[in-house]
Amino acid sequence: MFSRLNTVAFQGVDVITIDVQVQVSSGMPAFSIVGLPDKAVAESRERVRSAFHAMGLSLPYQRITINLAPADVQKEGSHYDLPIALGLLATMKVVPSDSLVDFVVLGELSLDGRLAPISGVLPAAVHAASLEKGIICPKVCGGEAAWAGEITILAAENLLSLLNHFKGTQVLSPPEPLMEDISAQKILDLRDIKGQETAKRALEVAASGGHNLLMLGPPGAGKSMLASRLPGILPSLTPSEALEVTMIHSLAGGLNEGKLIRTRPFRDPHHSASMPALVGGGLRVQPGEISLAHHGVLFLDELPEFSRTTLESLRQPLEAGKTVVSRANAHITYPSRFQLVAAMNPCRCGYLSDPERACSRAPKCALDYQSKISGPLLDRIDLHVEVEEVSAKDLALPSTGEPSSTVAERVKRARNIQEERYQILGLKARLNAHVDGELLDEVALPDEEGQSLLKKAAEKFKLSARGYRRVLRVARTLADMSASPTVLSDHIAEALSYRRIYFS
Ligand SMILES: Nc1ncnc2c1ncn2[C@@H]1O[C@H](COP(=O)(O)OP(=O)(O)OP(=O)(O)O)[C@@H](O)[C@H]1O
Ligand SMILES: [Mg+2]
Repeated sequence: MFSRLNTVAFQGVDVITIDVQVQVSSGMPAFSIVGLPDKAVAESRERVRSAFHAMGLSLPYQRITINLAPADVQKEGSHYDLPIALGLLATMKVVPSDSLVDFVVLGELSLDGRLAPISGVLPAAVHAASLEKGIICPKVCGGEAAWAGEITILAAENLLSLLNHFKGTQVLSPPEPLMEDISAQKILDLRDIKGQETAKRALEVAASGGHNLLMLGPPGAGKSMLASRLPGILPSLTPSEALEVTMIHSLAGGLNEGKLIRTRPFRDPHHSASMPALVGGGLRVQPGEISLAHHGVLFLDELPEFSRTTLESLRQPLEAGKTVVSRANAHITYPSRFQLVAAMNPCRCGYLSDPERACSRAPKCALDYQSKISGPLLDRIDLHVEVEEVSAKDLALPSTGEPSSTVAERVKRARNIQEERYQILGLKARLNAHVDGELLDEVALPDEEGQSLLKKAAEKFKLSARGYRRVLRVARTLADMSASPTVLSDHIAEALSYRRIYFS
């Protein structure tokens, strides 16, 4: 007796079709799974056996062989339980095997036959749609599968209700696509921040052009507070971005009840995060924080406290917008186009600029502290801003700043200008931060006055080629923020003020 059906394996965001072949033959009773299963897949035998028992069925007292083909792809995860169980039921003629050929099947079984939530249902459903098949998955994951388009979805609570569906005694209703309720989310408002006009302006520039931002200042100046307010001024995700972001979070198993994500992710990993946690990888390859921050913000608070190798591993993804995790048998790619916001104190005690409070080791300790961050990483950060402490007197005054909603409107307008420009040029880039090289020189060409100012500044500050282009890129964003088609000297002057800060 033989039956086959399809499930999937994940390699990064790529989905591979897996053929589950089930054979029940005469011989010594045995139950073996072959085709590079990991421990979770091998253990599915016990879950399948118990789930059958819960339904009053027993496994055939024969030789059962499950082959997961192609045999050279590592099978990881617990979603193989359901295809194995359904394959077995098809060989036992409990389920008609021709009813399974049009589906991609995935789900984890509990011992009582219930279907437990699994990761990766959305990418699997999108893959199923490309194969013109439907999907069978746990009920809780039905909401995310529904985003894959017009496909048949059988989202069942337990194995028994699936059997009843195939028998025709119970009909499984198609799930509704679910999406995050934006209005219910609590947005931190920029209005809460008193003073800090320069830092707020830098935050708006960063949001408008998608630039990376580094804030430097003494403890308690409001750096973490400023960074946490960035998502509130960023526009919501476009439908295609929302689908991409939801796919990654689905793979990482962090999707809230299968709801489509609509707000830009904001990830703030602790500085003790390991390299695989940040860039992806690990024993079972998982997307890292930088991929979970795709199309959103990665906030690294207390930047020098991160390990040096962890920070250096950000350099390549920051340029490429994707991460490649290399394994002995595969290269796994995850998208990671994120905006980096970092905060740090100028030295270990944090009070370098305040002679009354600075420790006795200043300014030497500042050099040691700051040298933990390499030049090439700092070079990838377009905006550097010093955040000074707000005095107690100013903190006591009522807040007079703009609310996040007003700033968000302006950010949206500036982003629309950029999008339109790059669309006309036929480019994939949508924000100034993603433009470099000759194209940047072309779109950000300053007027004559601006050019001479930039030339003088380049000589005076000994700007590197990267530094020069960084000023141009920020100036282009400043011009877009004021809806100016040409980059003017004012824009160059302001962009120069966000230059890398050198300490001594
Ligand atoms: N400009 C400000 N307006 C209102 N409150 C502020 C401001 N700056 C700091 N605070 C208050 O101080 C607290 C600490 O701020 P925050 O955590 O952002 O400081 P920080 O710069 O990140 O410090 P550290 O370097 O120690 O991490 C905030 O929770 C807030 O209550
Ligand atoms: Mg902080």
